[in-house]
Amino acid sequence: MLLYDTVISWDFSPYIFMILEIMHKIDTKKTIFALMSISKILEKDILSREDIITLLSSRDKDRTLLFKKSAEIKEQIIGKKVWFRGLIEFSNVCSKDCLYCGIRKGNKNLKRYNLSDEEILTAAKFAYDNRYGSIALQSGELESPIIADRIENLIFKIKDLSKGELGITLSVGEQTREIYQKWYDAGAHRYLLRIEATNESLYRKIHPENKKHDFRRRMECLKSLQDIGYQTGTGVMIGLPFQTMDDLASDLIFMKEFNIDMCGMGPYIEHADTPLIQYAADLLPLNERFDLTLKMIALLRIMMKDINIVAATALQAIDPIGREKAIMIGANIIMPNITPGRYRDSYKLYDNKPCTDDSAEDCQSCLEARVSLVDTEVIYGEWGDSQHYDKRRKSI
Ligand code: 5AD
Ligand code: FES
Repeated sequence: MLLYDTVISWDFSPYIFMILEIMHKIDTKKTIFALMSISKILEKDILSREDIITLLSSRDKDRTLLFKKSAEIKEQIIGKKVWFRGLIEFSNVCSKDCLYCGIRKGNKNLKRYNLSDEEILTAAKFAYDNRYGSIALQSGELESPIIADRIENLIFKIKDLSKGELGITLSVGEQTREIYQKWYDAGAHRYLLRIEATNESLYRKIHPENKKHDFRRRMECLKSLQDIGYQTGTGVMIGLPFQTMDDLASDLIFMKEFNIDMCGMGPYIEHADTPLIQYAADLLPLNERFDLTLKMIALLRIMMKDINIVAATALQAIDPIGREKAIMIGANIIMPNITPGRYRDSYKLYDNKPCTDDSAEDCQSCLEARVSLVDTEVIYGEWGDSQHYDKRRKSI
């Protein structure tokens, strides 16, 4: 009690400048120390979990050092280049009910669509005529023999119309190993299956508790894709409710240990017609989710120097030049949307999805201009495969 009284009755004013000066010195010392330690961390060959968390939490000059390092690695290993994957979102019909996703089965406020084969092939032809190296076929998750045959047939036809030249990435969710094999044999050679969250308990919080949303199966699917020989891509959402820095560090460590070839990860953005909207008030502000996503991309580029990393469209939902920023600090793949315009509004995974009223031509010229603004060249007529994949296959 006596001490408390002394402290509040003590007049600080004669000493205030001295106190401020001491505080300033401590602060400056702290900054110099932090800068030194960040540069030391960035020199390491292998980053520990603690290093990753320190870098994910970095601010100001430390954050700039992180981005500078990842940009240097991208330039050294990949060059100032990006490759296009023409994205065809061919159906928003989905049999699953992920708690975050706008096209979940339970969302009745959505017009469902399924492009005809002809519409898909016209979009693929657009990509080919415009010298895109590859296309990506993406849809909600459905498993059936009819769909498996349909996709196989589309792969044959796309290979045919492009004289075997268009690379094909698939992103149509969990399937049996046999079906993955059938599509691989037909000519698809890359597959993107986001694990969404590698901490199983977090995964279970953002998915319904049933067999259709089984974390283990998703992992097994990724393993099958890799065993079959696909360039295998995964990714996570960043800024999910309940997610911690430690979870994000685990995500990066998982990607490294699993030895992925490609990654597509982006900020989680709430969607009004999904159950997770109830946690909207607890989320990090959008600009912090954006910032964390850039740091995740920078870290992944440092940890896996030769993989393909997508500049996710969701970045642009937060920052008008979000994808360009991702390219500057490490991403090397962009997915221009070539889905016919009238369907785009219905493939809304999250609120404020950008480019939903542009045509494929608009998307291309817009992206080309944007990419050149960050001193980067779009490489046409090349697949732009993951260098990591080639090395990994040679070492098997
Ligand atoms: N916010 C951000 N990304 C989302 N996805 C689905 N819903 C959302 C959302 N609300 C992502 C998932 C999925 C990919 C196609 O879109 O990671 O794998
Ligand atoms: Fe369609 Fe999750 S809601 S895969």
